[in-house]
Amino acid sequence: MGFSVEEETLQEKCVNLDTLQNLDGDGFYQDGDVIIGALINVHNLAATPDLSFTREAELPPCLEFQEHSVHWVQAIVFAVEEINRSPSLLPGVQLGYHIMDSCSRYPHSLTAAMSMISGGNKTCGTTRPAKVIIGDSSSTQSILLSRTLSPLQIAMISYLASCPCLSDRQKYPNFFRTIPSDAYQARTMAQIAKRFGWTWVGAVVADNDYGRGAVQVFEEEIKGMGICLAFFHTLYREQLAKDAARAAATVQASSARVILVFSWYVDVEVFLLELIRRNVTDRLFLASEVWSTSAYLLANPQLYTIAKGTLGVALRSVPIPGFDAHLRQLHPARYPDDEFLRTLWENTFDCSLTKSTTKAFQNALPPCSGRESLEGVQSPFTDTSHLTVAYNIYLAVYAVAHALHSLLACTPQNNSDPKIKLKCSSPDNITAAQLLKHIGQVHFTTQSGEEFYFLDGSIPPVYDLVNWQRAPDGSLRYVSIGRVDGNQLIINESAISWPGDSGKCKCFSDLS
Ligand SMILES: *[C@@H]1O[C@H](CO)[C@@H](O)[C@H](O)[C@H]1NC(C)=O
Ligand SMILES: *[C@@H]1O[C@H](CO)[C@@H](O)[C@H](O)[C@H]1NC(C)=O
Ligand SMILES: *[C@@H]1O[C@H](CO)[C@@H](O)[C@H](O)[C@H]1NC(C)=O
Ligand SMILES: *[C@@H]1O[C@H](CO)[C@@H](O)[C@H](O)[C@H]1NC(C)=O
Ligand SMILES: *[C@@H]1O[C@H](CO)[C@@H](O)[C@H](O)[C@H]1NC(C)=O
Repeated sequence: MGFSVEEETLQEKCVNLDTLQNLDGDGFYQDGDVIIGALINVHNLAATPDLSFTREAELPPCLEFQEHSVHWVQAIVFAVEEINRSPSLLPGVQLGYHIMDSCSRYPHSLTAAMSMISGGNKTCGTTRPAKVIIGDSSSTQSILLSRTLSPLQIAMISYLASCPCLSDRQKYPNFFRTIPSDAYQARTMAQIAKRFGWTWVGAVVADNDYGRGAVQVFEEEIKGMGICLAFFHTLYREQLAKDAARAAATVQASSARVILVFSWYVDVEVFLLELIRRNVTDRLFLASEVWSTSAYLLANPQLYTIAKGTLGVALRSVPIPGFDAHLRQLHPARYPDDEFLRTLWENTFDCSLTKSTTKAFQNALPPCSGRESLEGVQSPFTDTSHLTVAYNIYLAVYAVAHALHSLLACTPQNNSDPKIKLKCSSPDNITAAQLLKHIGQVHFTTQSGEEFYFLDGSIPPVYDLVNWQRAPDGSLRYVSIGRVDGNQLIINESAISWPGDSGKCKCFSDLS
């Protein structure tokens, strides 16, 4: 095979990939015997790249810090700490992590991944190379990353990339995910449309593999069901205003009352605001999981009317015992190297931490007193009522741990006395390729009692179905109205609140 040789060379030689000015420091590193790399989009959007090609390209800076992503970062920290304490899973082996910001852009995500697996940092000092990468978030980034990492036989486990295309084991042999493929999500949308007799459905989707893939599956599914796709528009991040205006104009002109929307929530907001500007507020949106439970959208009062009645497929939420307490006890003093937590801290308490290079410091905010505490803080960061992506990330860490447990042949030291501690073989010389093989075969029971295994690299379909309703105080919230379990669609129709004041769903059935 020869890959282990290549890998060793990679580890020994210091490769300075570029100047890395905008990789947001070097992420958050915690040493251990085996390092789990992770890509989290802590920032949402990099400035538009310079495509003039008249000078050397550099990574644009990342903008738009996202509080909820720090919550995802902490899901890794929490899972790793829990596993390191466990007497039955990987006893004697300390897991470490290297978490970097992918900024929702592939130049950042690729550079960060290379930096994690090579173990170099800016000064060519060493952090231990990551043996596996949890990520990336988006499908497009995951495709690029899988193509790059698969010759090196490095496994990646995404928590959010749901494109059906990624189920191709020939093309993406090193790709796994703890989220079901969208093939099931788009299929669920088709089943819902059939159930309610909607025959004329439009689609507005992200102009990437995520959006286009979903429409493709939806079209497949509705064949022979008497349902037609009325129109299909894409939203491209680089020209969002223009695309949103075009899509909104089509929605306005079309008689289709039900619109399938598969797009990133920030882009969905621009599209919905454009519809409001045109006074089109009586459509029913079928929401994909990336925006169906978005606290960001639900909190925008401008959307209260237009988005009421939205039906969405949502990632199933599963509680993680102890996670709430972990989040509330966080303090930068305990994690001095966690730059993500530092930024969150400064934003939450309007103060600046020493050592900080962030905005808070430049804006000369008063120094933090050290007595700040997340104990009583209500924010997207401390909200653990619906753990979805955080749970997927938590599961991904557990999948890696169980694969390692099997790779290191952790068995009782003394067979005649099972109480005697488990012992694992040394993790020093394992290769990423060995770990990849064991991840593919992983099979365990989760703490919530579910069986976990990968089928074509993905987990089987499990979703919650949600509906956006007005709360008594007029605000919007989402309510669970059913679920998908395997091939079963379970809906409580009387729990659904429809758009407008009609209270009925019949108005969305087209007369055609
Ligand atoms: C790079 O790693 C070395 C050795 O671990 C460390 O001393 C140095 O501070 C690191 N550099 C940066 C920029 O993190
Ligand atoms: C928006 O729609 C409402 C109700 O249909 C109508 O009364 C109002 O005049 C419309 N406003 C604009 C700007 O078109
Ligand atoms: C295994 O445990 C039994 C009972 O505790 C003990 O008698 C035996 O000597 C142990 N064997 C080894 C190889 O440690
Ligand atoms: C790991 O590899 C090193 C160098 O190749 C070797 O000296 C050492 O004995 C190996 N350790 C184990 C536990 O196999
Ligand atoms: C269905 O929803 C209604 C209204 O919210 C509720 O009263 C009822 O208990 C629900 N039924 C089931 C089986 O969950």
